[in-house]
Amino acid sequence: MTNSELIKQLFLSFNNKDNEAFIQTAREYIEREKRKKHTIVAKELEKALYQSACVSNNAKRFKQSLPIPRDTEKGFPLLEIQHFEQDFDSLILSSYTKDQLERIVREFKDADILATYNLSYKKKILLCGDPGTGKTFSAQIISSMLNIPLVYIRFDAIISSYLGETAGNLRKVFDFIENDTWIVLFDEFDIIGKNRDDAYEHGEIKRVVNNFLQMLDNFKGDSILFAATNHQNMLDSAIWRRFDAVIDYVLPDEEARKKLFERFLRPIKRDKKINLSKAAITSQGLSPADIKMVTEEAMKSVIIDARNILEMGDLETAIEQFIRREKIKKNGQRDE
Ligand SMILES: Nc1ncnc2c1ncn2[C@@H]1O[C@H](COP(=O)(O)OP(=O)(O)OP(=O)(O)O)[C@@H](O)[C@H]1O
Ligand SMILES: [Mg+2]
Repeated sequence: MTNSELIKQLFLSFNNKDNEAFIQTAREYIEREKRKKHTIVAKELEKALYQSACVSNNAKRFKQSLPIPRDTEKGFPLLEIQHFEQDFDSLILSSYTKDQLERIVREFKDADILATYNLSYKKKILLCGDPGTGKTFSAQIISSMLNIPLVYIRFDAIISSYLGETAGNLRKVFDFIENDTWIVLFDEFDIIGKNRDDAYEHGEIKRVVNNFLQMLDNFKGDSILFAATNHQNMLDSAIWRRFDAVIDYVLPDEEARKKLFERFLRPIKRDKKINLSKAAITSQGLSPADIKMVTEEAMKSVIIDARNILEMGDLETAIEQFIRREKIKKNGQRDE
């Protein structure tokens, strides 16, 4: 098929409102651009296509909007609906991890085609790894890419101090998310691993975990469910089995740290002599969130001094300060 025939087909499928044919033809066109090594064009087209694919997904939304579930005793909301506009490029991860995330998006977009083969997109995903490495951020980015709001659930809000309330709270949350299509994040899922020493809490939390797992097993909705933790070693094997995918987040290597510095320092004018490779070396062991904090400190120094340009010294001081702070934190932990 020539390119013009392909475009004609695209128009026809639009006219026939044949969404599947439209997407398949558009994909074929993108693939051709990729084969021609027109990567930027291909990327732009992919972006545009994903957005239009989301329009149809959005049409399925809001079957009937339910009120936000609240804790019966205290009345506080059990979840929060959040909207994000972040692009995939702002996430700096190993290509392996990024591919895993992209795969989730692509499977979701091809849900209809997969269903004809009796296959389903990944719905339950465990995000684990070091603090500040981008677990929460990834869920926000997927929500932006799919143009579907994020339902943010802090696990500790679910755990009510009232015995028996917790199961009810969980039920309410699942009823809410099953009623529509959302990107759901059960954040700080590590509450499950905490308080192991306290026999009462332990028993109670175990019950909550079992409850949660049952609901996860029986989950029938169209949403994508993420659970994030940085205490994956505390989760037992029963939990792992429930997830369609497990994505592991690690601290950035030197190259990734350099990219993070570049990314976070974008808002400010930099001295030509600034050496981000060196900053990447001295910031070994820092997470992306740490590097963000360091760059913000450095930029603030420039601003409050009413200077216009960020210099290497600003960055070095901020890194040193951060490392000193970490040392104090470590010593504090030792003294506890
Ligand atoms: N891989 C990354 N690429 C770019 N920015 C990142 C990355 N990871 C973290 N950040 C930045 O740091 C902030 C905090 O990260 P995030 O909340 O996603 O960490 P987390 O893995 O959820 O940590 P925790 O386990 O403590 O909850 C993000 O909002 C983002 O600005
Ligand atoms: Mg987090």
